[in-house]
Amino acid sequence: MGIVYEMNHPLIKHKLTFIRDKNTGSKEFRELVKEVSMLMAYEVTRDLPLEEIKIETPVSSTNSDIISGKKLGIVPILRAGLGMVEGMLNLLPAAKVGHVGLYRDPKTLEPVEYYCKLPKDIEERDLIVLDPMLATGGSAKAAIRFLKEKGATAVKLVCLIAAPEGIKVVQDAHPDVDIYVAAVDKKLNEHAYIVPGLGDAGDRLFGTK
Ligand code: PRP
Ligand code: URA
Repeated sequence: MGIVYEMNHPLIKHKLTFIRDKNTGSKEFRELVKEVSMLMAYEVTRDLPLEEIKIETPVSSTNSDIISGKKLGIVPILRAGLGMVEGMLNLLPAAKVGHVGLYRDPKTLEPVEYYCKLPKDIEERDLIVLDPMLATGGSAKAAIRFLKEKGATAVKLVCLIAAPEGIKVVQDAHPDVDIYVAAVDKKLNEHAYIVPGLGDAGDRLFGTK
């Protein structure tokens, strides 16, 4: 079963409060989402392998650690996942970025892929899937399934806010995937919005609606 890591760092909690606040406008919302994503990148990469290299300091020669050539891929789920890309890339500048676009068919309510462009070698990469909201879990479950169908072997999911229902859906469908969240909220409402949540992440990021 994948592990759920709920961040409890004071900086993340503080920033998340203002992300949730309905009086926070799009510009500040985007900046805060970027900052929290950058802080989350720190935790998501905690298990990256290291290797020692020999360097010269101004005082002596020494062996010192560098990250050992691990290939990473960042995959935002369109559209709201885009808001988390820049923060992640700030800490992981060598990562390649793939995109997966999904919409929910109004009749079947099944997620349908409308866009998918991924790095060629995704089977060799540790993929970090980004979506601010894990509500019913339908989008994340489908996106991870598409990635696996295209060859992905190592996937982590990073969300700002998750509902317990969505966590369970992803854990049941993808027991190999660890989930990193800034907060686990109480529940979903009758419109499948997370309560208390932050509202519609895509609309708040891009000023639509
Ligand atoms: C939001 C959010 C997730 C999805 C979560 O996207 O960014 O992708 O809802 O809901 P789920 O867990 O019930 O699938 P939305 O479908 O509103 O599209 P958008 O990002 O284009 O706004
Ligand atoms: N998508 C959002 O953007 N917000 C929610 O609360 C649920 C799904």
